[in-house]
Amino acid sequence: MLNIAIFGAPGVGKGTQSALIVEKYNLVHISTGDILREETSNNTELGLQAKAFMEKGQLVPDQLIINMLEKKIDENKNAAGVIYDGFPRTVKQAEALDAMLEKKGMKLSCMLYLDADHDTLVERLLNRGKDSGRADDSDKNVIENRIKVYNESTLPVAGYYENQGKSVKINGIGEINDIFNTICQAIDKVK
Ligand code: AP5
Ligand code: MG
Repeated sequence: MLNIAIFGAPGVGKGTQSALIVEKYNLVHISTGDILREETSNNTELGLQAKAFMEKGQLVPDQLIINMLEKKIDENKNAAGVIYDGFPRTVKQAEALDAMLEKKGMKLSCMLYLDADHDTLVERLLNRGKDSGRADDSDKNVIENRIKVYNESTLPVAGYYENQGKSVKINGIGEINDIFNTICQAIDKVK
């Protein structure tokens, strides 16, 4: 079973590329951001807990995310594979994912690490904010905070998987289909 993480800063294209990957490889898409937004709009307990963090561009506490993920992995244990989008976002989450997969006799196949410069990220998010309805896209200060939190708390995850030889760095700037082709080459190597 394929277990692929798609990694990178806010706005780098994780969701966009995940949609293409899921279609081609028949994987289940687990986006922690999408799940949290759904929980928030349904006013669930988890959603209410997560909302304040998300609106400020801060990370939701690790334990809430890890519990949520374990449930999702269990729900999809018969899938051909899973793509994790927006997770793991801290080294603690990466360790928890490794442990969860190991418990089920699996391991992470690879981490696709999309990269783009700061100004491109801000431009994409502000642009999407015009009609996405995402509270964290419309305020430039919140976008800057998301990028800062990424650099401080999430970027160490790249090193964690580089040490395992699982990180594949991919240029996130260019035509969406060209980036997707590069991603497919990386996935085909671990299939
Ligand atoms: P999350 O939903 O994961 O958001 P994010 O990481 O900030 O990233 P985005 O979804 O905004 O960007 P993306 O990389 O998916 O880019 P996209 O494809 O949309 O997280 C939101 C919040 O939830 C967090 O801040 C946190 O509070 C919480 N959270 C989530 N997961 C968590 C976790 N594990 N732990 C703790 N907290 C967590 O593309 C962006 C735009 O660019 C789109 O408009 C797209 O059309 C465009 N675009 C994409 N590719 C290209 C291209 N090649 N050229 C031109 N435009 C492009
Ligand atoms: Mg996304």
